[in-house]
Amino acid sequence: MKNSNFFLYLIIVVICSLNYSFAKGINIIPWPTKVEIGKGDFILNKNTLVCYNHRELNSLSEYLSKGLQLAIGSSYKLEQINRNAPLSKAINLIVNPSMSIGNKEGYELTVTEKQIIIKSIDQKGIFYGIQSLLQLLPITGSMKIPCVNIIDEPRFAWRGIMIDVSRHFYTLNQLRNVIDYMGIYKLNTLQLHLTDDHGWRLEIKKRPKLTTIGAWRVPRTGLWAKRDCPEKGEVASDGGFYTQNEMRELIKYANSRNVTILPEIDFPGHSLAAIASYSELSCSGDSQFVSPGCPIGGIRENILCAGKESTFAFVEDVLSEVAMLFPNKYVHIGGDEAFYKWWEKCDKCKARMRENGLNDAHALQSYFTKRVSDILKKHGKMLIGWDEIMKGGLPPNAAITSWTGIEPGIEASKKGHYVVMNPTRETYFDFRQGDPAIEPPAATYGKCILLLKDVYKFNPLPEGCDPKFILGGQGSIWTEEISTYPYLEYMLLPRALALSEVLWSSSQLKNWEGFTHRLERHLDYFLKNDIVYSRSHYDATIVPSKGSKGNLLIDVETQIKGLDVYYSFENFYPDHHCKKYIAGEHISIPKDAETFRVITYRNGKPVGRIISVSLDELQTRINQK
Ligand code: ACM
Ligand code: ZN
Repeated sequence: MKNSNFFLYLIIVVICSLNYSFAKGINIIPWPTKVEIGKGDFILNKNTLVCYNHRELNSLSEYLSKGLQLAIGSSYKLEQINRNAPLSKAINLIVNPSMSIGNKEGYELTVTEKQIIIKSIDQKGIFYGIQSLLQLLPITGSMKIPCVNIIDEPRFAWRGIMIDVSRHFYTLNQLRNVIDYMGIYKLNTLQLHLTDDHGWRLEIKKRPKLTTIGAWRVPRTGLWAKRDCPEKGEVASDGGFYTQNEMRELIKYANSRNVTILPEIDFPGHSLAAIASYSELSCSGDSQFVSPGCPIGGIRENILCAGKESTFAFVEDVLSEVAMLFPNKYVHIGGDEAFYKWWEKCDKCKARMRENGLNDAHALQSYFTKRVSDILKKHGKMLIGWDEIMKGGLPPNAAITSWTGIEPGIEASKKGHYVVMNPTRETYFDFRQGDPAIEPPAATYGKCILLLKDVYKFNPLPEGCDPKFILGGQGSIWTEEISTYPYLEYMLLPRALALSEVLWSSSQLKNWEGFTHRLERHLDYFLKNDIVYSRSHYDATIVPSKGSKGNLLIDVETQIKGLDVYYSFENFYPDHHCKKYIAGEHISIPKDAETFRVITYRNGKPVGRIISVSLDELQTRINQK
């Protein structure tokens, strides 16, 4: 075969095998390292056994049996047996310490017509093999599992989600749901932002007022930072907290889904709930209230005094209990957005700076962080914080979460500090996932948008970083505006799936079209299981720009391939009777038009929502660029 013919042949084989994997219903997310499709199917029936070779796999075998029962909607559960050698007509779970995939989270899944085998050196890998197996089942409840050999392991060790449970409190059941989704999509670290100006959420036995006072605020609704402060005598009835026993239960549950919980206690800023509980923690000692979402930034004294020794006694009281409770080797100490105004006028803070030769407030925060790090070390833990903690110098061995961008992460990695990449523009899931004209209103982040496709583009290993020190990445959901659990699910899904593929799958295998094709199966799963998710990626993306004469130009993009876009300037719902958008051509705007309306279709049926936006609003957007 001539070289050129050979390459053509190769391309056809690759394309066919991709199409074949679609046709065979291999819709796994995150996409595995290696997938070889076989012939035929394994047919599940009542007599199929779940067989495991090690007694410790007992609960995973139970988990698999239940998962299969749910997937096929059956009234019976497969029988499980503990047996050394694999059986035919069975799903065999095998821990084999000498297999070649050395990563504990890696696994091999082999489906033949005769039997299914999931092998790993560790239970974690077996758990992930089970996830891939369950995803091979169609949503329709069919009993057919396509024959396939999968060899898989993660790209990054840290694959995280951060949930802010301070701004809005979520129940243990709701967190268990999030942990379930994380397990399904092979995400393994749940950072809980447990404290902030709006509520302290963890019982600390030595400091009971943190939860008798700090966990509660007066009830308010509506846009954040536009709410009224508490009125005199008003009862603080809104909030909640996790007792240590409850948290222990949650940690155990998370462990069963291969998720580790990373506690975040935010010091020294974002501390109004702590100061409301113990007013002596602030520089002035003035009494404060837990904020119900009324303005704070630079107005309320929400920073712990770095000049008083009693502050460090408080930090130790809190962290000693946190260290006892959470098995994670890290404790996240926040460190973000500390307003220095009160430090700068506090005699005790100024004295601390003089005595320690600290030139500015950044240096004082660095001193604070170093002392917190020493406390953690004494209690057997390591420190991680938001990237601001780098500004006055990091303590040795401290890790950072790079959120203001990727640059702090690059810099820290080059200095030999471990980094979790969590840049706002690619991984802040509280940003809207579509046009502000149609997504829920949000005061906190203005008009910031994070589309599904932009999460998928996220590169946790940017040029210039030292990859040895990039632990992985994380998606964060700040919940100022996210007041209900369904809303939280809407913001998480499906963006967490795009993130999971970024963090698990090898970068060469990333394929947006393949991902969106496979995603359909998962959206069907959410629908079937009454899980809230966003369909915003089917909507049109309106792209306004300025013409050469300063006039408004409108273009439209879509995230998904194969969508048709119809638009109108009439005061009526747009549909396929309207003008079809031609990619690459600016839309001509009729004289006196006021409102632009657009909708997407797929295969002749509406698939996205109608977006209606005034031309004035589009003009404002380009003026603000
Ligand atoms: C942050 O978003 N303040 C870490
Ligand atoms: Zn002070």
